[in-house]
Parts: sequence; structure tokens; C-alpha cells
Amino acid sequence: MLIVKTIQEFMNAKSDLGRKDTLGFVPTMGYLHDGHIELVKRARKENKFVVASIFVNPTQFGENEDLSSYPRDFSRDKKLLEQHECDILFYPSAKEMYPSVQPMETFVVPGKTAERLEGQLRPGHFRGVTTIVSKLLNIVGPTTTYLGQKDGQQVAVIKKLVSDLNFSTKIVVVPTVREPDGLALSSRNTYLTSVQRKKAPYLYSSLLEAFSLYKKGETNTNILKESIIKHLKNDEEIRVDYISVADSNSLEELDIASKGSMISAAIWLGNTRLIDNIILD
Ligand code: PAJ
Repeated sequence: MLIVKTIQEFMNAKSDLGRKDTLGFVPTMGYLHDGHIELVKRARKENKFVVASIFVNPTQFGENEDLSSYPRDFSRDKKLLEQHECDILFYPSAKEMYPSVQPMETFVVPGKTAERLEGQLRPGHFRGVTTIVSKLLNIVGPTTTYLGQKDGQQVAVIKKLVSDLNFSTKIVVVPTVREPDGLALSSRNTYLTSVQRKKAPYLYSSLLEAFSLYKKGETNTNILKESIIKHLKNDEEIRVDYISVADSNSLEELDIASKGSMISAAIWLGNTRLIDNIILD
């Protein structure tokens, strides 16, 4: 696996690829787990070349968020990507992506899809995501970009970005990888204390409860949301940020749930924020 830290080096490495070779791209912020690796495996299966990036993107973190404490373990990440036959790892510094000499003035501002849910609670977050993803797509030039359903709103925002700004990449969305007890894998799970870790699966089980009501015929989204709240209220340490039943592309809240709607929730367990979602099928 080739590790490149500068955009120029990446361009040089890329010039060795044939024009018709397919390139699968997995953008990440590192501290890789089986969720990330599932994306790499899928990219490996479907492309001649696989590129992963590791970049903890400062512009998508709010002022009071965990940028400085975000977990990092480059040597472990490198080994994992090597094991899964990634061809190129793009591992730029913050200075490389956001030069301090001639600071960036141009940012990509997403619209309504990014203003709801996560966007409402984390102002500026998706502007950071769409900006860095645009930069990465321009540098890497992938045939296909692999994203996880775990971040359902991010998927919707990036799909809209790619279509609005005519990026030529395809988007493949990979189902959420979970621990045996249902907790969605996340780099932030390491923040949980052992007691909180035991409670964290309540998030997914509350979504499953709403899903099972839906399967029994309940489509009133207020009733579905109430069942989630009731389930989460069983534990006093859990604080709910939002519960939503929305269209999975526009993220618009719905009165009536139907096939393709996304049920999502964000909760706090102590100082750790967890998000999860289910798409109704
Ligand atoms: P990061 O949180 O590192 O996630 C990288 C990719 O892995 C995202 O597409 C995310 O949805 C996916 N992923 C995370 N946990 C997953 C799980 N349990 N199952 C399946 N996929 C999972 O998302 C980001 O980084 C950043 O916002 C980024 C897109 C790289 C832009 O900075």
C-alpha cells in the first residue's frame, strides 16, 4: 500500500493508473473499525484500485466539539488497510488541505437537507463535510465513493452535493455494521464508560421497536416517535437530542411513514453523542 501525504504525491501516484481503471474511494477520519472496513471490502470487490483517506477534518467540528480529542491510531489504521488490500492511503495534514499561507475563501454550502436534524444541532457541520468531500473528490477522482448508512443524513447531503455540483462519482451506500448487541460501530464508542456501553444499545433497540410497530401497520409518525421516547426514557442517563421520521433523501419530517422513510435518533450518554437510523422497507 502506498501512503501519500500531499496532493501532488497523490496526483503523481494516480497518473500510473490506466484511464479505464475503476477507482473505489473510502473517505474516513481514521480510528478504523469494522464499519469502515466493510466499505473498504466492498470497494475492493468492485474496483481495480482502492483509495482510502484518513483526515480528521477540522471544519466539520463545532467549537465545543471533540476535534482535539478525536481518537487516532495511524499505525493500526495503516495495518488494517494493508490487510484489506487498499492500494493508496491518502493521509494529508490539516495544512495540506487548509493551507495557512493562502487560506481558503471558498466553501461549499449545502441546502435544506443539511439544515435539519444533525445540521440544526451542529451548525456548520455539513458545510465542513461538503467542503472536504468536494476537495477529496476533486483530488481522488473516484469512479465510486463508498459511504456508510450509519450516517444517514450525511449520505443524503453528499448525494445531493454530487448531483448538484455534477461530480462524476457514483455513490454506494453500505449497511450499518453493528456490535452483536446492536450498537452501531463508531469511533466515538470508545468514549463510553463500561456502564454507558451497556446502555448504548438502547438506541438501536428503540428504533427497532418503532420498526416493529410499523411492520404491524402503524404509520402515524407521532406514535412511532412516542414509542422511541418511551423506550429511551427507561434510562435516566439518556438525553434525547432528536427523534425523527423523515424522507431519507430530503430529510423532510413526515406525518405518515412509508417504505424508504428513515427513522433516526441522536442521544447523549454522559458526554458522548450517539446517532443511529433505520430505513423502513
Ligand atoms: P468517519 O466517521 O470516519 O466515517 C467514514 C465512513 O464510514 C462514513 O461513510 C461512515 O458513514 C462510515 N461508517 C462509520 N461507522 C459505520 C458503521 N458502523 N457501519 C457502516 N459504515 C460506517 O463520516 C466521516 O468519517 C466524515 O464525515 C467524512 C465523510 C470522512 C468527511 O470528513
